[in-house]
This record gives sequence, C-alpha cells and structure tokens, in this order.
Amino acid sequence: MLRRQFIHRTALSMLTGAAGSLLPKAGLATVDSWKSAFAEALDNNPWLLAFRSTTSDSFAADADLEGRIPEGLTGTFYRNGPARHEIGDFRYHHWFDGDGMMQAWRIQPDGVTHSARMITTRKYLAETDAGRALYPGFASVPPDPKPVTSADSVNVANISVLPHHGKLYALWEAGSPWEVDPADLSTRGLHAFSTETEGLPFSAHPRVEPDGTLWNFGYVSAAKKLVFWHISPKGQLVKAGLIDCDPIAPVHDFVVTERYLVMLIPPLNFEPTGGGSFLDQHQWHPEQPTRVLVVDKNDFSRHRFFELPAQWVFHYGNAWEDEAGIIRFDAARAPDPMAMIDSFRVIMRGQVVPDGGSFHHQYRLDPTRGTVEETPLLDQGTSSEFPTIDPRVIGRRYSRIVMLTRSSSAEHEMLNEVSSLNLDSGSLDTYRYPDGVIPEEHLYVPRRDLAPETGGWVVGTGLNYRKEQTELRIFDADRLADGPVAIAALPYALPMGLHAKFV
Ligand SMILES: [Fe+2]
Repeated sequence: MLRRQFIHRTALSMLTGAAGSLLPKAGLATVDSWKSAFAEALDNNPWLLAFRSTTSDSFAADADLEGRIPEGLTGTFYRNGPARHEIGDFRYHHWFDGDGMMQAWRIQPDGVTHSARMITTRKYLAETDAGRALYPGFASVPPDPKPVTSADSVNVANISVLPHHGKLYALWEAGSPWEVDPADLSTRGLHAFSTETEGLPFSAHPRVEPDGTLWNFGYVSAAKKLVFWHISPKGQLVKAGLIDCDPIAPVHDFVVTERYLVMLIPPLNFEPTGGGSFLDQHQWHPEQPTRVLVVDKNDFSRHRFFELPAQWVFHYGNAWEDEAGIIRFDAARAPDPMAMIDSFRVIMRGQVVPDGGSFHHQYRLDPTRGTVEETPLLDQGTSSEFPTIDPRVIGRRYSRIVMLTRSSSAEHEMLNEVSSLNLDSGSLDTYRYPDGVIPEEHLYVPRRDLAPETGGWVVGTGLNYRKEQTELRIFDADRLADGPVAIAALPYALPMGLHAKFV
C-alpha cells in the first residue's frame, strides 16, 4: 500500500540524502571558476560545443535538406536533454544537471522543420526569475542553496521523452513526468497517475509494449526501496508497488519480458555522508556483486535477486524468455560508473577524462539454476551505448540492436559511429560519422507495412561542431554503411541531448 505520508517523506529524502545535508554551507557562497574554465577550454577544443549552454530558450527553423526524405517516413522525432547548463555566473558541475529542452523534428515528404523549447519546470521558472541557481541538483550545489522541499521542486525533466496515449511527457528519474504539448512544446504541468502515487519517482526509461501497456520503476534512495509502475494503454494506473532494496543505487534503466521486469542494481551504494550533492552520497564498491532483480509483472511482491560481478549499466536494448525459460537481455556493460561519477562531471569545466567505456553484452539468466552468464557481442575494443530496437518487439524475441559505437579513434572523445547488430547472424553494419560531427542516440523507425525488424529507417541527430549546426540524418536501416539518404541541417547548434522517441 502506498501511503501519501511515505511518499512525501521519501520523495524529499531521495534527493537530499540525509536530512538537511544540502542546506547552505559556510564558504560556498562564492561563484566558482567552472564557467570561465569551460569557456577557455571550448576555445581550444571545438567539440566541447556539445556541452555549451543553450543560447536561447526556444528555437524554430526549416532545416536545410540534402538528399530525399524516403517515401513512407512521416512523423515527429522528439528529443530531450539537458540544455541550460549555466545561469547567472554559475555553471552546473555535471552534464546531467542542466535544465531540459524538448525538441521536435517534423519529417514530411517535402522537408524537415525543427522547433525546441525549454521545459518550464518549477525550478526553471524560479531560477530564471531569480537570475541565479537556487537549488541543489543531481551533482551540483550552487552557492547559498535553498532547501529542497520535494523532489518535484528540483525536477529538471531533462533525460527522456515519453509519448503515451496521445500525450507527451518529459521525464527525469527522481520525480514525476512533466507533460508537454506535442504541437507547440509548451509545458502543461506535472502529471500524477493517481493521488496516492503523486510525487513518487517515475524513471526515464519506461517500457511500452506494442499494445500500449506501460511498465516503469523508480528508486527511493533514503527509504531503500524501488517503486514499480503498471500503467494501462489508456494511461490509467493499474498498480504500483514497493520492493525493499538494500543497498540501493541510482538505477537508470530496466527491461521487460513477457512475464518479468528485469534490472541490474550495481554496487554504487547510497551511503549519505552528510555533505555535497546527491551523487556525492554514493560509494562505489567493486568488491560487492551487481544484483539482478527479477520481478513478476503480475505481482510485484514476487521477486528474486541474482548476482553478477560488479559492473555498471546505463542502458539495455531488450529482453525475452526463450523456450527453456532462460531470460535473455542485452546491455552496454561498463566496468564501473566512472563515466557518470567523473567524466560527465569534469567535462563541465572543459576537462576531458576518458573513462573505461561501455561494451555491449548479452546476458542469459537461468532462474532454475540461479546463474547469469554474460557474453560480449562486439569485437573487443568496440565501445557502445544508446541501444535501441524496433519498438514492436519489446519484451519479445528480437534480432536487431541499433546503437552508437566507437571502433577507432576520432578527433573528439565521444562515440562516432551508428551500428546495427544482427544477433542471429552476428553481422554488424556500421556508418562512421565524419570528423567534426558527434552523433546522438539513433532510433530504429520501422516501416509499419512490414513485419517487425524487416525494414525501415534509422533516424538520429548529431552536432556538427565545425559548422556549428545540429543535423538530422536518415538511413536505410538495412544499409547503414552506405551513409545517410537525407541530411537535414539547422542554422544553429544545440547542446547535445540524451533520449529520443519517434511518433
Ligand atoms: Fe538514459
């Protein structure tokens, strides 16, 4: 049973860690040098444009089109991501702290138009009004911070986008969905699936099955609990439930099969130290296992934990159960969370610290024997992230993963290829982005008149930092190596975003 009292207590404490730990501290009331350090680094390192703060709170343009829009590809490519990285003299200390901006790339037979708007969350409006950063974020604490009164008071809606039952939501992971108008991208307000569950965390990677059934989770750090969500195709709450998880970590993504919800819980344990940001309240324990949690979709109280060696995973592709009851899933496996703890932090002051990278693996979990096997899916040395699939095979047997990869050096430190991996044949089809362009997450957009995974397009955006413009590329999903069939370029450069969805 979810009680509102519990919700208010946990929603607040999940961000603040120990009570009051993020209240003002003596000696912090001066602006630090991150903003000037980044500006100086950008002069010498043009690809850092990916992390520049947005130059406007809204954008609109007709894209300059090279090539042709393929027949049958019509729709809107939405992307969300952190965009306002600076306010006043303060620059956030982590990529994940920037306020969210929603983009819409509208693809029509005769061209592509683009629009973008900052998501006007409570925090965004309060800080815009004040002209300075007011609240602690995921990994940043500004000078003279105000106390956090609820998770949604600091919800920056900056990670992903969810289209569901005709509505569009911008998602963070520690608070509620923010509803956004799908047409003009204006912010409509916070969304609650019920009064009982109002304010409970709703993570950035819900899984929507082909019939519209939605599953999601959230982590409630201070209470050491995970919340699980089951939402109907019409957007109604079917059930929500809590599972004890001690120790608990900031879990980012999960997968579903026909019968189960599956997630890895890495040993990045929430251990409040009484100071610093929410991220600072975590300790990495490589000597401890990464637990695999398997939850029964029909009854969240029925769940089991399995174990893997310590590892970190941001994102999964998909999962399914084979005839023998083995749960198979894939994920971008990193040896540790150093990208999040270190690289994505210091990049905000223009400092480049390569992390260990992440490498695509397939997992086979045998619930009867209690074992989990992991096998690399790509050549050693080929790193990967942002796996996506044909949305019509979620939770079912699948053979194709589209992801960003990096198999050779590049001028910048980010991933520089888009690849399609066929799990049945093992074949890999790769397009290497030209120097000067950093790709963002790409999506598999199926042709609706064909069976799943048998044809369609790969659509993705990227930052051309040499031309200072953001570009959208469309590929034939079966011929990535041939290069894009169309490129739509904007007359401006946007900060690099996170997740996208095609409607
Ligand atoms: Fe993500």
